[in-house]
Amino acid sequence: MKIVETIAETRAFLDAVRAQHRSLGFVPTMGYLHDGHASLIRRARAENDAVAVSIFVNPLQFGANEDLAAYPRDLERDAKLCESEGADIVFAPSVAEMYPSPNPFSIVVGDIGNKLCGRTRPGHFDGVATVVAKLFNIAGPCRAYFGAKDAQQLVVIRRLARAFDFPVEVVGCPIVREADGLAMSSRNVYLEPAEREAALVLKRALDEAAAAVRQGERDGRRIAEDIAARISSEPRARLDYAVCADPETLDDVERVEGAALLAVAAWFGKARLIDNMTVTP
Ligand code: PAF
Repeated sequence: MKIVETIAETRAFLDAVRAQHRSLGFVPTMGYLHDGHASLIRRARAENDAVAVSIFVNPLQFGANEDLAAYPRDLERDAKLCESEGADIVFAPSVAEMYPSPNPFSIVVGDIGNKLCGRTRPGHFDGVATVVAKLFNIAGPCRAYFGAKDAQQLVVIRRLARAFDFPVEVVGCPIVREADGLAMSSRNVYLEPAEREAALVLKRALDEAAAAVRQGERDGRRIAEDIAARISSEPRARLDYAVCADPETLDDVERVEGAALLAVAAWFGKARLIDNMTVTP
C-alpha cells in the first residue's frame, strides 16, 4: 500500500488504476479510524478493483470554538488499518497541500446546511462540501463511501455530487455500533467512562421512538419531543437537537407517512455526539 501526501502523486496513481480499466472505491476520512471506517473500506474493497482512502482533518469544517487542534490523529495506526483492510493507497495531505491559499474558495451549500447540525455549527457543511469537492476532483471517477451516522453530511454530499456533476457514485453505508449500541465515532475517545455510559441514551431514545412508530405513533412533533425528553432525562447529556425529519429535505415531518429520519445531537462532557435512525411506518 502506498502512502502519498501530494495531489499530483495521488492523481497519477488513480489515473493508472483507471487506465487498466479497474474500478475505484474511495473512502474520504478525517483519520483516527475505527471499525466504522473499516466497514467502509471493506465495502469499497468488495465492490471495486482498487481502493483509495484519504485522511485529512479539514480545518474548514471546524468552527472557531471547536476541537480542530485537539481532534485525535494517528496516521501510523490508521495506515496499518487501511493496509489490513486492503486499501491500495492512502492520501494524507498537509493543510498547505489542500489549501495553498490562506483564503480558500468555499462552496456555500445554502439552506440544507443550516438545519440540524448546521444550526449550532454555522459554516460546517460549507467546509465539508468544499473539501469533498476537492477530494472528488482529485479522485476522479469512482464510488465514494460515507457512513450514515452523519445523515445530514450524506444528504449534502449527494446534493453536491449532483449539483457539480461529479463522476462519483455516492454510497451511503449503515451506522456501525459498539456492542452496547453506541455509534462509533472518532470523538468517542473524549468520553469519560460515566459519560460514555450516559451516551447510550441516544440509541435508547431512538429505539424507543422507533418502537412508538411501530405501535402506530405518527405525530412527528410528539416523536421529536419524546426523544428530546428522554435524552434530557440523562443528567450528563446536554441536548443540541432531536428531530423527526424528511430524509431528503431534512424538514420537520408533521405526520410520519413515509420514511422519516430520527436524528439527534447532544453533548456529553467535551464530546458532541450525533446519532440517527430511519423509520418507516
Ligand atoms: O465524515 C468525515 O470524516 C468528514 O466530514 C469528511 C467527509 C471526510 C470530510 O472532511
